Amino acid sequence: MSYYSSDVIDDVRSGNDIVDVVGQYVQLKRSGSTYVGLCPFHNEKTPSFHVNPEGQFYHCFGCGVGGNVIGFVMEHDNLSFGDAIKYLADRINYTLPEVSFTKDAQKKKELKQKLYDIHKTAARFYYECLMSDEGKNAVEYLDKREVSIGARRKFGLGYSPIAKGALYNRLKEAGFDDEAIIKSGLAYKKDTTAFYDKFFNRLMFPIIDVYGNIIGFGGRTLGDGQPKYLNSPETDIFNKSKNLYNLNLAKQARKRELILVEGYMDAIAIYQAGFKNVVASLGTAFNENHSRVMRSYADSVILLFDSDEAGVKAVLRAIPVLRNAGLRVKVLQVHDAKDPDEFIKKFGAAAFGELLNTAKSHILFRAEQIQKKYDLNILEERIDFSKEIAKLMTEADNSIEADAYLREVSRITQIDLSAIQNEINRLNNGVTDVKPVRNGRNTNKKGIDGAREDIINIIMSNRRYYEIISRYLKPEELLEPFYIKILNIIYSLYSDDKAVNTQSILDCIETPEEQSKFTAIFVKRIKFDENEVIKAINDILRNIKNAYYDKLISDNYASPDIAKLIDDKRKANNLYISLSDG
Ligand code: CTP
Ligand code: MN
Repeated sequence: MSYYSSDVIDDVRSGNDIVDVVGQYVQLKRSGSTYVGLCPFHNEKTPSFHVNPEGQFYHCFGCGVGGNVIGFVMEHDNLSFGDAIKYLADRINYTLPEVSFTKDAQKKKELKQKLYDIHKTAARFYYECLMSDEGKNAVEYLDKREVSIGARRKFGLGYSPIAKGALYNRLKEAGFDDEAIIKSGLAYKKDTTAFYDKFFNRLMFPIIDVYGNIIGFGGRTLGDGQPKYLNSPETDIFNKSKNLYNLNLAKQARKRELILVEGYMDAIAIYQAGFKNVVASLGTAFNENHSRVMRSYADSVILLFDSDEAGVKAVLRAIPVLRNAGLRVKVLQVHDAKDPDEFIKKFGAAAFGELLNTAKSHILFRAEQIQKKYDLNILEERIDFSKEIAKLMTEADNSIEADAYLREVSRITQIDLSAIQNEINRLNNGVTDVKPVRNGRNTNKKGIDGAREDIINIIMSNRRYYEIISRYLKPEELLEPFYIKILNIIYSLYSDDKAVNTQSILDCIETPEEQSKFTAIFVKRIKFDENEVIKAINDILRNIKNAYYDKLISDNYASPDIAKLIDDKRKANNLYISLSDG
């Protein structure tokens, strides 16, 4: 994954105190041995975000995120592990070894840098053209669409002139070579001699990534020409399914809620109306990558697509994609206007603000769409409708929410509440609890997972416990891949005679998701008295081993080994270890 040695990573991590780094983004207050502040990863009014200087980790008791300083930077700025290392190294003027780049990687890096530079030069050129005589029509067009001067500048809007190869010539003047220019997608060779620009006589929208690099353009005709929008092709720096228009500015709003719209102009109009947390997909179908990117900046999303049938279809497609990424989803529709841009123009920013407050849960939105398919005056259709609604309700975040929706659905459809409720119970087949949404990280986990977490904490706390327990407990007996991974890390740190603490363990975990899972375990540790710990260890091991053998037994029910497994389980239950063992 990363090409830096563990020594380098260690230098960079230990050179960046987590309190200083987090402190750049979050106002922290000392509270006892830790620092506390408002969590930057979810919306909260009372601080539940803790930074622990001694353990060099952070953890939010509200939303469950956590990790070390590298994980924090990755999660907060949506950086890869390698980029987070670069950022942190830079922060302490630490020179990263260059040797780790292969020749190919180095060449690729140089090409990317060239492409960024080309796009920057192009954007400047388009902007100059907009400001010059040539850009008169484009300026008039922007006036007509009521794009403010401030917004034109903020979004770096420009104009691509009519003259053949105008941008190409400028890029050549600036010293870029043909090969790179062609790779940028902004110009192409038509015959053996002439170069043509991809865009001409269009209003230009630079597309900017989260780090502020210009990576492509959208170009709109000033009239009714076709196609209405022309976009840059995908290049080494432009991946349409990972970037969102205006995310660079939207993330600065730090709202943990994003408004997702379809069009460039919608995004600009909404931003200009004072709602900065707006992003647009780039004329491609919304996909998992988009939603994963959004998840790093938001907990919830308001879908605000055009009010036509295509818009509704796109909303219905986007909902599960967003929910699978762990985002809460609300849906909003404009009325008396074809899209948000037109709505704001007609009714103003204040009306738009009020509209935002009427965003409804994705469930109610889908319920309405389902209802449109049925004639509720006909009994059979009412039954089918209830079935679909019942299925939908299993997606409510909790049973209170489901209940509220049901009342609403029953009111709209005038179908008896208990009739729908019966259908749901039938569907759930006696299972009364609705499935919780994935984003709420489980905080009150007891039982077998609690036992696994306790043993991890106990082993971490003292080498002596490791020496005894490791002789009786194999990592795979924890069954869950994540716990197994953590226990393997701890065992190998001990056996390599390395320090075992949150820092050294977090160093072995690269993704923010897994770092969060680990810190969540660590913060739940219980301090055992010396004389009660041994009883706890025995209880916990028995729990863990019972679950392990139960799984083995049920997986191998028909196998001849079954008698041995049952015997192993019995032995495990009779096991009692004491601190004087070994
Ligand atoms: N789009 C595209 N190519 C097209 C039409 C649309 O790439 N031929 C993309 C653009 O990103 C556009 C978005 O789809 O912004 C939504 O299309 P539309 O609703 O037509 O865009 P608006 O921004 O509302 O356009 P307009 O300037 O007409 O308001
Ligand atoms: Mn529009």
